[in-house]
Amino acid sequence: MGSANEVIVVHGNGNLAGEVAVSGAKNSALKLMAASVLGRGVTTLRNVPLIDDIDVMGEVLAYLGATVSRTDHVLTIDTASLTRNETPYELVTKMRASIAVLGPLIGRFGEARVAMPGGCQIGARNIDMHLVGLEALGVVFDVDHGIIVAHTPQGLHGAQVTLEFPSVGATENMLMAAVCAEGETVIDNAAREPEIADLCNMLNEMGAKISGIGTSSIHVEGVPVSQLHPCDHTTVGDRIEAGTFLAGGALTGGPVTVRGIDPDYLRMAITKLRSLGCEVETDQDWIRVSRTAPLNAIDIQTLPHPGFPTDLQAQFMLLAALGDGLSVITENVFENRFMFAAELMRMGADIDLEEHHALVRGVDGLQGAPVSATDLRAGAALVLAGIIAEGDTTVHGIAHIDRGYEDYVGKLSSLGADVKRVSASA
Ligand code: UD1
Repeated sequence: MGSANEVIVVHGNGNLAGEVAVSGAKNSALKLMAASVLGRGVTTLRNVPLIDDIDVMGEVLAYLGATVSRTDHVLTIDTASLTRNETPYELVTKMRASIAVLGPLIGRFGEARVAMPGGCQIGARNIDMHLVGLEALGVVFDVDHGIIVAHTPQGLHGAQVTLEFPSVGATENMLMAAVCAEGETVIDNAAREPEIADLCNMLNEMGAKISGIGTSSIHVEGVPVSQLHPCDHTTVGDRIEAGTFLAGGALTGGPVTVRGIDPDYLRMAITKLRSLGCEVETDQDWIRVSRTAPLNAIDIQTLPHPGFPTDLQAQFMLLAALGDGLSVITENVFENRFMFAAELMRMGADIDLEEHHALVRGVDGLQGAPVSATDLRAGAALVLAGIIAEGDTTVHGIAHIDRGYEDYVGKLSSLGADVKRVSASA
């Protein structure tokens, strides 16, 4: 995609208004792709977003020996004859979510080798809970020169596990091994993100027996892996992409309507939009935001779902930066996820960071400036900031945005923003 040599230039004093369709959820599609390892044969996944992270997961599967092909938003993955059970350093460091193949590989082969993860620089992001959960199912781990080596000397067996924290990745990895463990598994304090329900639904379509879907206590009755089969599954809409465009509508006044999203997935974000002074209407698969009053100050703390999502923290910090008074944003899910604040301060925001709290004093406006996307969501929020700033903003590091937003520039342009990608050297 060439994003390494490109920047996004945003012309300020703009508005966003109209309708936009959200793509399928990145965080769902990546795990659905990993789950295809468990169903020998051709899996069809629909509503898969056209983003770089999906390409990386495609490379991971191809490395394992799968045949991956795409037509527009439909992905077919043939896992009939996998030749490897290993995910190399180059791919795992490109994208942390590559670790999602660990559970399925163990389920299918009883063994796996996965390089220790890298990914977004937003805090420690350990995988201790993944390993503890899988160990409870009978997996034995060694580390061999930076590679996690998993064996199942006694086979996989069901277990009752209470996660220390409702980790999304640990819940998913456990699920994808537990579906083919012998006996019953109960995952307590499981993560409840809608993308996990999507994964559970797909696994059940493949022949798994999961109940308690969408709750914090997930029950799995294991079946032999040979009984799992491929399926045809449609990815849920991306609530974070939807929330990003809603933040854009709230910022400029809108009205902005996002389609292809269940409003139930964004309950807390919608509550916060209303507290900020926005009007929000919803129907089965759309949400509309508009605002005529000034933005209010707001207090937000990020928490596992159904709490406020950490992946919308930067976008809402931007709204707080223009709110009337002092807002407090507390980040509870990741360490170091305030790098966005420093970039926003270049544009004139008034923010003090105290450990995992950001004290945001509202200002009257922002000024365009050169800024850098420090991660995916920060990148998206900086482009939004540029839209209401005075003058031009140049966003560097847009490879982060391409990892997770399908045609972000095109979708914002269709809502009326003056935003374009240009070669960095131009
Ligand atoms: C997923 C999402 C990410 C989102 C996050 C929280 C994907 C590809 N990414 O990431 O966009 O921001 O959920 O909603 O789906 N932790 C440990 N040990 C572990 C696992 C996690 O300490 O074994 C910590 C992490 O360092 C982090 C926190 O727990 O501070 C949350 O992590 P987790 O819920 O696992 O998020 P991810 O699955 O990495």
